[in-house]
Amino acid sequence: MAEAGWQATVLTLFPEMFPGPLGASLAGKSLKEGIWSLKTLDIRQFARDKHRTVDDVPLGGGVGMVLKPDVVAAALDEVSAAPGPRIYLTPRGRPLDQPLARQLAEGDGAVFLCGRYEGVDQRVIDAAQMLEVSIGDYILSGGEMAALTVLDAVVRLLPGVIGKEESHREESFETGLLEPSLYTHPRNWNGIEAPEILASGHHQKIAEWRLEEAKKETRTRRPDLWQRYLQGQGPDNKAKE
Ligand code: ADE
Repeated sequence: MAEAGWQATVLTLFPEMFPGPLGASLAGKSLKEGIWSLKTLDIRQFARDKHRTVDDVPLGGGVGMVLKPDVVAAALDEVSAAPGPRIYLTPRGRPLDQPLARQLAEGDGAVFLCGRYEGVDQRVIDAAQMLEVSIGDYILSGGEMAALTVLDAVVRLLPGVIGKEESHREESFETGLLEPSLYTHPRNWNGIEAPEILASGHHQKIAEWRLEEAKKETRTRRPDLWQRYLQGQGPDNKAKE
């Protein structure tokens, strides 16, 4: 990370949506501390006509409007000195996952292009060699909430944002398993006992229990993750399951 902190640059028609929820909690605190910085640019500022037009009808017909390539290119040019990959948020993109968040956090920043309406002219996405990223298989009204989501996933990984205890939990997700279920006091709540082993003080046994719990929950909740976990384990361990 550069000395100036991790630099987020956001191109959007709704700059007022930033930092939004990232102004609160750990992300907000680390933003104030300068661990990361946020610069937003209003795409409309780059419209060239007197009506400040940013979009036009889709070529070939169809519903909705498309952000114009000349307007988006001018906005991208304006931030050409900003560090990091150019990311276009779109449901057509590569799904966001922990490795991508980690990769971004290890760099100096990222530039986010948030689309509205039906999307952005593909030529400008291709010409700028943008990384297209999706936050899931559903359609949002624009890329802003997706950019906020990517930023939240990245910022919490920056050095100094969260404490040691938290980063250990992070590592356990890196194994490809979901977290084990959590419990706190009281041990008996409404007649329901928390698992006895957790009150035993036996750290080794607790760690083993948590690993088994993580495996069981991953198997039942996310068979897709479970299959990937088994593949990563190699044939020896696979036979033990
Ligand atoms: N823009 C609209 N929907 C999106 C999604 N699911 N992911 C990223 N960007 C989007």
